[in-house]
Amino acid sequence: MKIGIDRLSFYTSHYYVDLKTLATARSVDTDKYYVGIGQEKMAIPSPDEDVVTLAASAAYPLMAAGDLEDVELLLFATESGIDQSKSAGIYVHGLLEMSSRCRCVELKQACYSATAGIQLAIGFVARNPTKKALVIASDVARYELGSPGEATQGCGSVAILVSANPRIMAIDPECGYYTEDVMDFWRPNYRSEALVDGKYSTMVYIHALVESWKQYAELTGRSLTDFDRFCYHIPFTKMAEKAHQKLCRKTKVDVDAEQMRALLDESLRYSRITGNCYAGSMYVGLTSLLDSCEEDLAGKRVGLYSYGSGCVGEFFSGVIQPGYRSVLFSDQHRNLLENRTELTYQQYEDIFNYGVPTDGGDYVFPQYKTGAFRFSGISQHKREYESLVE
Ligand code: HMG
Repeated sequence: MKIGIDRLSFYTSHYYVDLKTLATARSVDTDKYYVGIGQEKMAIPSPDEDVVTLAASAAYPLMAAGDLEDVELLLFATESGIDQSKSAGIYVHGLLEMSSRCRCVELKQACYSATAGIQLAIGFVARNPTKKALVIASDVARYELGSPGEATQGCGSVAILVSANPRIMAIDPECGYYTEDVMDFWRPNYRSEALVDGKYSTMVYIHALVESWKQYAELTGRSLTDFDRFCYHIPFTKMAEKAHQKLCRKTKVDVDAEQMRALLDESLRYSRITGNCYAGSMYVGLTSLLDSCEEDLAGKRVGLYSYGSGCVGEFFSGVIQPGYRSVLFSDQHRNLLENRTELTYQQYEDIFNYGVPTDGGDYVFPQYKTGAFRFSGISQHKREYESLVE
């Protein structure tokens, strides 16, 4: 039985900062961002968006299409949790009016957790083939103002429906995975911005890739030339390019610049203009590939590398299914990305510093441009959400 991705919906905030604006504010050459790290824009959530509203807005098109009816497992992957006890997924479950016969839990392991979610969901569907699982990756990537990581910030969410006989991608059973206790990136509970050893993190990302690949290659007998495209975890687009170059060198596969572009470029387009969205980043890459690629990818194998600092890496793969184009949300994604509002530097800094109040008081948040749901305030220590769906 084939099991894999049946639907894939991406959502990000309606506001962004052009990295030219950030470069001017930081007295840095714009090309350091545009060329050096390969990023042009970073998506910034308004004060009335959080991982719940981003997630609910990503999953809303699935609800509207009637695709959530058989979902009995909701896995919410995030490292931007809003509560130490209650899963953010339960708020989403409520906003989307899902059936109460559903398991719901939050998963955390930096940017890796959505892939753990997909693999757990595959196990669930193998045992319950008529049922579906919804994996939602949702994060807000925040680094300190003026820090090297600042230009890689972003936010976004991807809702991934996992089922038997999937209409988009059948996931192959073999995977290579690698865990090691390292401190390349982390966020203690008392901080709202991540701490990171930037250069070291890029080395660990690649080390975990090479180790995961070795296992995958041994299990499958495949080589890098057996793939039509690759999707990498994308903290910034240059990282994915460097990782693939390194893997090619390690495995003695020659790729010139044109071949590299053909293998990776389509998967990097959305991240280049939205930034890192942690748990969802690799799936934003997959969405970008499927939406952007002019060639029919049906029957083609895509290599997938997921990485979460701390660290866990996993290399796995999937085969694109015939007719996949008819179930994509490409028009909605393009429409969202083309109709965002640019922030000035001052607006960005004001939003950054606004944060979510932590004094235990009651608040009503002003309304900004959001998707189908908004974080409207806090009352008696409880977050309040509003549905804008008519
Ligand atoms: P930096 O140290 O300020 O940048 O920040 P740099 O000085 O190394 O410059 C970056 C590149 O731009 C260099 O190219 C420069 O040469 C080039 P490279 O040597 O790497 O090829 N450059 C220019 N190019 C053209 N024109 C110019 C110019 N100036 C410089 N004028 C760093 C880089 C990655 C450290 C920073 O962005 C950072 O700390 N990022 C956050 C950490 C990160 O993203 N790590 C990635 C791997 S870990 C991961 O992916 C997990 C993560 O998603 C978290 C999770 O799992 O939850 C982060």
